[in-house]
Amino acid sequence: MAIDYGPLAGLIGTWQGNQGMDISPEPDGTEENPYYETIEFEAAGDVENAESQKLAIVCYHQVVRRKSDDEVFHDQIGYWLWDAASGTIVQTVTIPRAVSVIAGGSFDGSAEGSASTVLEVAAKLGDPDWGIVQSPFMRDNASTVAFRHRISIDGDRLSYAETTSLEIYGRKFEHTDENELTRS
Ligand code: HEM
Repeated sequence: MAIDYGPLAGLIGTWQGNQGMDISPEPDGTEENPYYETIEFEAAGDVENAESQKLAIVCYHQVVRRKSDDEVFHDQIGYWLWDAASGTIVQTVTIPRAVSVIAGGSFDGSAEGSASTVLEVAAKLGDPDWGIVQSPFMRDNASTVAFRHRISIDGDRLSYAETTSLEIYGRKFEHTDENELTRS
């Protein structure tokens, strides 16, 4: 039987965008990095957990380059998962700083019929449901305490806004990233 990717179906494909803006922490303030990126979302089948939960899987790889020097300055891999029975969406995030996030949200389909699909997930450090795991160094020096992510898909156009709440350099910092992409 064909796999039902539910609200994730619209993600599948290769997306590119050059309107990115990153706001990230510096010891003495804030850095702003205009960027461009490619995100590949691939249909990856489904999985059954404990013979009762069925998840449809989309895996992704995001590669982000600074406009100023064309260097990759952020690389991220993970999965989006859809649990049709409970209407739950999940994003797993792994970044090469020894930080991982499992963020969740619900999708009730009530916006069906509208032009765009909105995927919204969130996680918090210490949350028993949707949490954050990081290395001892990151916990002590650059802790990720919360994460939220909103993607809106409208045909071959996608936009996202992501906020990673940090505790770094002795202060709280809202590290944000947003971009608009089109599917090739
Ligand atoms: C498009 C997405 C993202 C971009 C372009 C980006 C870029 C950056 C940049 C430029 C810094 C400043 C430090 C440096 O110069 O290396 C930084 C710091 C950091 N980012 Fe991101 N980031 C992104 C997403 C994320 C996500 C999703 C997380 C975690 C879930 C994250 C966690 C962190 C942490 C913990 C730091 C502090 C480390 C440090 O500055 O020493 N970032 N990021």
